[in-house]
Amino acid sequence: MKKNSIIAIDGPAGSGKSTVAKEVAKKLGFLYIDTGAMYRALTLKAINKGVDFSDAGALIELSKNTDIELKESGDYLKVYLDKKDVSHKIRSMEVTTKVKLLASLKDIRENMAKLQRKLGSGSSGAVLEGRDIGTVVFPDAAYKFYLDASFEKRVERRFLELKEKGFSVSPEEIEADVRSRDVSDMTRKVAPLKKAEDAKVIDTTDMTIEEVTGKILGTVKK
Ligand code: CDP
Repeated sequence: MKKNSIIAIDGPAGSGKSTVAKEVAKKLGFLYIDTGAMYRALTLKAINKGVDFSDAGALIELSKNTDIELKESGDYLKVYLDKKDVSHKIRSMEVTTKVKLLASLKDIRENMAKLQRKLGSGSSGAVLEGRDIGTVVFPDAAYKFYLDASFEKRVERRFLELKEKGFSVSPEEIEADVRSRDVSDMTRKVAPLKKAEDAKVIDTTDMTIEEVTGKILGTVKK
């Protein structure tokens, strides 16, 4: 495979991106960049500061004065917001339901993309996962994948994941969230979630993490 490669993995919530991207990065010794975690961290800050989510100007201003860092720690990725570890807090339902409001703003996306390009290009190989990696952030990525799965399976995975992390959520709540994020992420004007023309589609509905990881590694190692 090519050196200094960028591997882009995009797809909707619950398609299995995070777990697989982390695993692929680990196997290749690449940097793992969870771009959703970056949008989530900024959302958490806006909530903590009591920023009105309908005030785009205030959200954009906030993003200019926010420091977000990702640090790998064993099997986990730690997310730091202004030097504080917020890895757990950014997974809350409140953050999850509000993140789409901020992720649809052009200026915020541009700042995030800049930071993501800097991290990726500065590494000796990186796996980035998100919604717009293969289309906007790294359109020239060496390898592009688009993960998808049935709606029911995605809701089930997300529910189990949050339960495991100790959040008390109902399946109905998760279903409503995944549905509304799908619509918002796919229909927003700036960098909507869509498959890059040259991305390889993997339907993960009936696949295990190992199978999806194996498929990606099989492609990139050729
Ligand atoms: O883990 P999950 O797929 O639920 O979401 P995530 O990857 O943590 O991303 C949370 C939200 O951030 C998404 O629903 C998008 O609204 C936004 N996002 C985005 O707009 N662009 C990205 N590259 C990554 C996330």
